[in-house]
Amino acid sequence: MKIKKFINKKNKTKIVALSAYSKNIASVLDNYCDLILVGDSLGSVLYNYKSTREVSLNTMIEHSKSVRMGVKKSLMVVDMPHNTYRDPKEALINAKKIISKTKCDAVKLEGGQKIYKIVKNLIKYNIPVMGHLGLLPQSEKTFKFKGQKKSERDKILQDAKLLQDAGVFSIVLECIETSLAKLITKEIKIPTIGIGASNNCDGQILVLDDLIGLNNINVRFVKKYSNVRREISKAVASYAYDVRKKKFPLKKHSY
Ligand code: KIV
Repeated sequence: MKIKKFINKKNKTKIVALSAYSKNIASVLDNYCDLILVGDSLGSVLYNYKSTREVSLNTMIEHSKSVRMGVKKSLMVVDMPHNTYRDPKEALINAKKIISKTKCDAVKLEGGQKIYKIVKNLIKYNIPVMGHLGLLPQSEKTFKFKGQKKSERDKILQDAKLLQDAGVFSIVLECIETSLAKLITKEIKIPTIGIGASNNCDGQILVLDDLIGLNNINVRFVKKYSNVRREISKAVASYAYDVRKKKFPLKKHSY
């Protein structure tokens, strides 16, 4: 039902999505988002891994269990990490594990034609799947936007149609050229969710840590809405000052 409602937003209202990795943050996002993704971006954002390829299934599950506690109304999607969906059987075992342990609503997999049969099989077993095309962090060495070459554009569009045919309920389009995002969004019936893919998509997703300025990154597709690093710094500086000057704790903070 939640997924049907989500799909129905296409052509009616822009879809708001964010990646989050823990309960307290997720509970705030839940008031504003249609979809919350436990993204494997947590590998670089939280664990300083060189790539998302190092993220394990257990790490995804533990963070997702935390996020689940904060999400009441949004659709909750969990990334299947690298090397957990190399064939239909492996994908099914791992997707079932993610869903049963985290109670998420769906899983997200990166890729097009290569994972067609895998996606189709998951859906056959009633596991809702979100697709992910364009820049694919699990399989790429360099992070360049996609869709300049005609062959690349044709392939991404064809993959989007294939994923739709396999039964995904939505597709993330990461770092693709503006007119390609427009074309895909027009050509498919399910919502496209863009990150670095222009406002031609049906919705947008960002990593929360990036948009609040907690993560120290500067990339073109992120707009910083806040400077949380500065706010934390101010609070911690005041706390440190108070402790050193014996202004904290006071009697009212003591038993
Ligand atoms: O891992 C992630 O957070 C993602 C989004 C950026 C789409 O895949």
